[in-house]
Parts: sequence; structure tokens; C-alpha cells
Amino acid sequence: MTINIHELRDQIRYHERKYYIDDQPEIPDAEFDKLMRQLEELEKASSEDIPSDSPTQRVGGGVALGSRVPHRSPMLSLDNTFGEKALLDFGVRVKKLLEDAPVEYVTELKIDGLGVSLLYEDGVFVRGLTRGDGEFGENVSGNLRTIRAIPLRLISTEDDPVPPILEVRGEVFIPKHRLGEINAQREAEGESPFANPRNAAAGSVRTLDSTITAKRPLDIFIYSLNYVEGLDVATHTEALEKLKQFGFKCNPHTELHNTLEDVIIYYNQWVPKREAIPYEVDGIVVKVNDFAQQNELGSTAKSPRWATSYKFPAHQTMTKIEKIEVQVGRTGVLTPVAILEPVKLAGATITHATLHNEQEILNKDVRIGDTIILERAGDVIPKIIDVLKEKRKGDEVAFRFPDLCPTCNTPVQRSDAEVAVRCVNAGCSAQLKRRIAHFASRNALEIEGLGPATVNQLVNNNLVQDVADLYTLKVEEVGKLERMGPGLTHNLFHQIEHSKQASAARVLVGLSIFHVGETIAEQLIDHFLSIESLSQAEAEAIAAIPGIGPQIAESVASFFSQNRPLIEKLKAAGLRCFTEQVVKKPKVLEDTFFSDKTFVITGNLTEMTRTEASTQIKTRGGKVTSSVSNKTDFLIAGEGAGSKYNKAVELGVPILTPETFFEHLKAN
Ligand code: IVH
Repeated sequence: MTINIHELRDQIRYHERKYYIDDQPEIPDAEFDKLMRQLEELEKASSEDIPSDSPTQRVGGGVALGSRVPHRSPMLSLDNTFGEKALLDFGVRVKKLLEDAPVEYVTELKIDGLGVSLLYEDGVFVRGLTRGDGEFGENVSGNLRTIRAIPLRLISTEDDPVPPILEVRGEVFIPKHRLGEINAQREAEGESPFANPRNAAAGSVRTLDSTITAKRPLDIFIYSLNYVEGLDVATHTEALEKLKQFGFKCNPHTELHNTLEDVIIYYNQWVPKREAIPYEVDGIVVKVNDFAQQNELGSTAKSPRWATSYKFPAHQTMTKIEKIEVQVGRTGVLTPVAILEPVKLAGATITHATLHNEQEILNKDVRIGDTIILERAGDVIPKIIDVLKEKRKGDEVAFRFPDLCPTCNTPVQRSDAEVAVRCVNAGCSAQLKRRIAHFASRNALEIEGLGPATVNQLVNNNLVQDVADLYTLKVEEVGKLERMGPGLTHNLFHQIEHSKQASAARVLVGLSIFHVGETIAEQLIDHFLSIESLSQAEAEAIAAIPGIGPQIAESVASFFSQNRPLIEKLKAAGLRCFTEQVVKKPKVLEDTFFSDKTFVITGNLTEMTRTEASTQIKTRGGKVTSSVSNKTDFLIAGEGAGSKYNKAVELGVPILTPETFFEHLKAN
């Protein structure tokens, strides 16, 4: 029996839906694969062009990542409501604007993934965009079509024909339990793990290579009908029903309520259940159901007045402190770290939490064996927020902060000026390992082949005494190290050689001078133009730079006075920033979004280092400083943003996400 190519496509589409959308497969995987192979063969043999909505067109589609496309209507965000009172206030505002007309509310789970907008023409998927800055999205069509839960062709029936134009919005996510396998693979490939399922989803959709997207277990829930021609629907719930009929996957936990008191009941039901949901959910979304009422309420520039999100409290869990270790940082600071009984929290397994410093342990009276409450809000690193003293059994052990460096046994130094306790032995191997790892890190000289295992071996075998020794390593010596085959060795030498091209600011960051991060390094080089001239400056001259305080200036001057030989070695190694006087300042663009504005950058921007970001801002006429104040125009906050973020919120400084920042860069 010969099967018609069109029927075969329909059959496969049916089974894709059963498997990926309804979660009720009717045939075994092997059977499905067989149908796919059959279709591939038929398509190969056929003289007709393969249509874009054929199930075979899910892999390796043309990726147009990077092209900015305007959204049909802005992709707004939601206002956050904290607490019941604020939710009831939302209701009061709604009622007032609607002149007390009866209102129905829809509640949905707020999926923590990546928002996307999908466009269908005559029922065929034609384009998918990320949110971008809300006005313009990034075209990720090629990547999105690899997601099986996104239909490439919608179901059309005589009673319910698909409209000619349909735009829906939804949230792409990765199930929580799949994060581990993705991260294990990333680590095997030498890449850093994703902090949470949301980053994994965003990273997978925003990659340049759609074959990577295709391998990730991405899924989607469609949460709104954004635009349609020729379809009559009066409410959000009606629209969702239609979308499901067309073959979209919508979240099943959607409910309709007549009062906000009922909404609060819905919320309270989900708080204890959220951990059990197989995808990350960070709260609920409350929407006015009626479209006419939605229109009447309208939107502000940022968010609709007809909807709000009601966030769940930060993830918390209990665990025990198994022991406390002390780590020696690259500037010699001793940091106590609690080693925990591993626990799952917000999609990740947590085994460590910093205890910051000796004083923190004393203040909180943290003891080994204590039961603690660990909290993790979104991307933020887990924090110990409470010690449950009532759970003590009496065998907990108070921690005595060491008087000797745990690595080199040199007596530690305590000072009244700071809480930090330091190992002041410049030759301490723990410090040296950290300094080398930092020198090679992404924000400094980016020597990717130099991971922690290699650094350990280089130091333990006495092959390096300082960072400059990396440039005089011998292939024979490195080749003898464990797990360093000829390929890896060659790659490492290649990368070390390449790192000689690094800018002066990056090299300065790489030197591990106390208080000198990317922003300060940039400011210092902007002023002194080279490491050489900075290294000869007096502390007073350094402190004269606006934004550089006396403490930083003192730290820089004292570093260079003690490390002249290191600088001479780096010069001799042929680092470009020492041999070439790069004094030409880049031409500054005029009249851009950034012109005459002051920015602070914090957290991980994923796509570029903070140094690169700050160069980009400066070439567009903006200024970058290191701390948030009333003079700051914008904070650019990436993943892991901490105190600067809080300060910005406190001062009302507007915050840009890395995505929005990149959009502005592209625009000017
Ligand atoms: S409705 C005008 N419903 O949360 C915005 N959004 O902060 C209408 N999200 O960008 C959005 N689950 O990416 C809506 N059930 C849901 C959602 C949801 C997750 C995301 C969405 C949006 C962000 C708002």
C-alpha cells in the first residue's frame, strides 16, 4: 500500500500532538521514528518542494538570530503584586476604572521561562520572536520550530477554520528535572552550567545553532491570543479554548473567579504545591477575563492595567551544615563556606553556601550540625537566612576561625579596618591557584583551556610561581601532566599565545589587585592609558580620578610597589598592552541613547563581559561608574546581580536587563 505524502504528514502531526501537547502518546517512539523516516524518504524522492510546515522541517531551519523585528503590539511585562492587600488594591483600581461593573478574573500559573510571540499565516507557523526590549524582538524562528510543542501547522475544521492571521504569546520552558542532564553535558564540554531552568531555556532559544536548540527538552505553554483576524472571541478563557482547538498547548491550571478573595484561595492552594510542579513557576497571573473590559482598562507604557502577577515567596528549604571549610581567595581573604547536606532548591541541587566572614558566623551563631533555612530568590545565589536553634540536639560544634592559613599555615592577619581575615603570604599556593584561575577567566585574559584541574597541576608541580610564568611554560612539561593529551596541550598554548593580545584593562583586572574589578580597571586605564604609567603613579594621583577613592588608590599603588618584578616579567613575555602604546581613543558617537548618561553594570550579561559592555557604552558617549548613586541614570543588571540591584531599587534608578541593553546597543 502506498501512502500519500500529505496523509503521512497529517498522521505524524497527529502523533506529535498526542505526544508533545496532549501527553497521551498512542504509538511507541520507534513507530513514530519509522513514520518520520518514511516521510523523509518520500520527500527526498518527490520533485515537489518540502513545505515549511512539514514535520521534517523541525531541525536546522534557517536561523536569523540577531535580526530585530518590531512587535505588532508591544510585549509588555506584568506589574508585581506583593501580598493580599496589594492584590485587593489591584481589584479596587480595576473596579474604579470600570465604574463598578461586574468583573471576572482568570488565574493562571506564571511560568518562569522565556516569553515568545508566534505568528501564523493561514495556519502555518511563519515567525517567532523573543520579547527583546518589548518594542522589538529577536527573530528566533529557526530555533523555535525545533520545539515539538509548537505546532508548525494548526488544526483547521469546517466549524472552526483557522484565521488567516493569528499571533499568540507564550512561555518557553525546560522541565525542572531535565536541567541536571543538560548541565552534566555542558560541564563535560567545558561550559559553565545554567543556574536554573529559565536560563537554560533562554540560552537554548537564543543560541546561534538551531541543532543545539533541537537537542534541548524545550516545551511551551501559550498564555495569550495577541492578535487575530476573522475570529470572534469575547473573553480570554474563550480565546484559550479556541487556541487549544487549533492545536496549541495551554496550561491546564487556569481558573475563573468572581472575586479576588477566590483568587487568593487559588494562590494559597498553589504555594505549597509549587515544588511538585514539574516546571518552574514563580507566582500566579491574574487577568480580567473580558476583552472589552481589558481594552477599557488599557495599559501603561510598561504593563497592562487589566493584569497583575502575584509572586510566590522566595524558595526556601531546610538543610544541615555538615562542615565549615575556609577558602583562600586570590587576594588572600579567608572565606568560610558551609558545606551542606545536599538539597534541591528552585531547580538546582545546593551543596554550599557562603558564610561571608568570621563576624557573620559569630553574629548568627552558626554551628556545625545546625539546621538552617536556605533561601534562593530567582537567580540569586542561595543564602542562609536563619539558624534553627530550637532544632539543636547539643552535639553541634561551634566553629573556630583558623589562626593559620588552611593552605600554607602562615598566621592570618586580622585588622580593625575590615572584617576580612587574610593570609598575607604572597607565595601561598591557594592564593596563587585562584589568581591564575582569575587571570585566565572570561573577564580577564580569557584563556579557556586553563581550567581548575590544570591550574592545580601547574601550581602543585611548581611550573608556575606567578601569572607571568604561564608565558614561559614548556610544551614538554605541560604535556606530562595528567589528562593533558597533545590536543589539549596544543590548544592551551595556542590560547595562552592569543591572550597576549588582551587590552590593558583586561590585564589589569587579571592581576587580582584588591578592589580592582572591571569598572575600576577601565577607569584607571582611561586615565593613565597604560599599565606602565599607572604602575608609576603615586596613590594621590590615582585618588584624584573622579570615582576612585583613597582605599582603591592605596591598594593599586601598594600592589605596584610590591610587584615590580611581575610587571617586568609580563613585559618581557610580550603582552601587547606593554609593547604597544595604544593611546588612540575610539571615536565617540554622538546623540545616542547612551550620550551623557551614567551607567553601572552588575551581574553576568551572558553575551559580553562587563569590560566589553563598558567600552561599548563609552564609544556611544556614555559614562560607566562602579557604584549606584543618585547620579546613576541606569543600572544594567545581569544574572547574579546583588547589592547594586537593591541599591538601584531603593534609589529608584531604572534597571535595564541585558537584553534591553543589547537592543539599545544595536539601535545606536
Ligand atoms: S500574560 C502583558 N500569562 O511573565 C503581559 N505572562 O512579567 C501579559 N508569563 O512577559 C503576559 N506565565 O513572559 C502571562 N500565564 C502567563 C504567564 C506569563 C509567564 C511571563 C511572560 C511575561 C512575564 C511578565
